[in-house]
Amino acid sequence: MSDVSNRKLIILTGANTGLGFEVLKQLLNQQVPYHIILAVRNIQQTETKIQSIVPSHQSVEIVKLDLSSLTSVKSFTQSILSRKPPLHINILILNAGVVKNTLTKTEDGFEHTFQVNHLSNIVLVHELLPRLIESGPGSRIILVNSRLHKPGVGTKEHGENRPIMDIENLDGSKMYSPLLFYRNSKLAQVFFGYQLDKLLNKKGEEERKVNVLIVEPGFCPTTELSREIGIFRQLFLRYILSWAPFARTSEQGGAVITYASTSSELQNKSGIYISQFCRIDKSSDESYEEDKQRFWWKTSCDLLGIEEDWSSLVFNQNEILD
Ligand SMILES: NC(=O)c1ccc[n+]([C@@H]2O[C@H](COP(=O)([O-])OP(=O)(O)OC[C@H]3O[C@@H](n4cnc5c(N)ncnc54)[C@H](OP(=O)(O)O)[C@@H]3O)[C@@H](O)[C@H]2O)c1
Repeated sequence: MSDVSNRKLIILTGANTGLGFEVLKQLLNQQVPYHIILAVRNIQQTETKIQSIVPSHQSVEIVKLDLSSLTSVKSFTQSILSRKPPLHINILILNAGVVKNTLTKTEDGFEHTFQVNHLSNIVLVHELLPRLIESGPGSRIILVNSRLHKPGVGTKEHGENRPIMDIENLDGSKMYSPLLFYRNSKLAQVFFGYQLDKLLNKKGEEERKVNVLIVEPGFCPTTELSREIGIFRQLFLRYILSWAPFARTSEQGGAVITYASTSSELQNKSGIYISQFCRIDKSSDESYEEDKQRFWWKTSCDLLGIEEDWSSLVFNQNEILD
């Protein structure tokens, strides 16, 4: 591996396919020399896919990460944090995501979609935040979200097309629907993003070392996201709906994530939601409800056994006492 100390370091989850792979190609084509850590489940497949696309001025490495296992998440962060000399992370792109067609539990006992799309990302941020802060100001956390966290977007299931986050049904034991649990995981992610931004902003904008950007890539039906929904619906999505005027190509979807991750226009922006057209936009009205942001932050931390107060991760002792 080439010397990484003079390069901007990017961690990209879900880089082996779909939007993540598009983001990877776009980053590799930039002139800025990056070291990109591809955090993926399938090392072999990723190695084969990237073999011929890494130009000589870029540096890439692949590290195993399975977001459906907290043990895997912890060994991933350990492998990053234990490097000598220390790795300084500049951009953390949390892109990996899933829609589970049937109710599935992870080895940690959580509903699969909620853990992969939301809970495990909190652990990644919690563990890596001090390194992002050290590399700041200007470090970025990118949360790849979806318009489906908004009410009235997408098709109805059980008569509803909005997220309905129910603390009594986080495990799907009362009722499970793939799209609902996907919507919920994405709304939980927006709540988390805004609450995290508030913490990072506590000492004022000048003191903020890490920026949090939430991104919606738009409806990109040709990715693998629909892989579990049955062959006919998949064919419909890929070959019929991909012609719809509102559909976006994977390249276009990836470009929004790349823009949020690297554009200098967004250098000092944080706590913002970026639309599929690379514009600062509004997330759902519900996502701005501060009591819900606090509630789901606390609930998520409690579920993960993480201290709710992250001040000591962000500020030194003097800053905490200020
Ligand atoms: N496509 C759209 O229309 C759309 C719209 C809005 C938002 N998004 C969001 O965009 C992101 C990328 O989705 P996509 O459309 O590119 O779907 P995709 O083609 O299915 O890619 C999803 C990526 O996530 C990875 N992943 C899934 N489960 C994982 C796990 N347990 N551990 C580690 N990685 C895991 C997959 O790895 P494997 O290949 O190993 O499964 C894959 O690399 C997701 O967050 C999705 O919610 C997509």
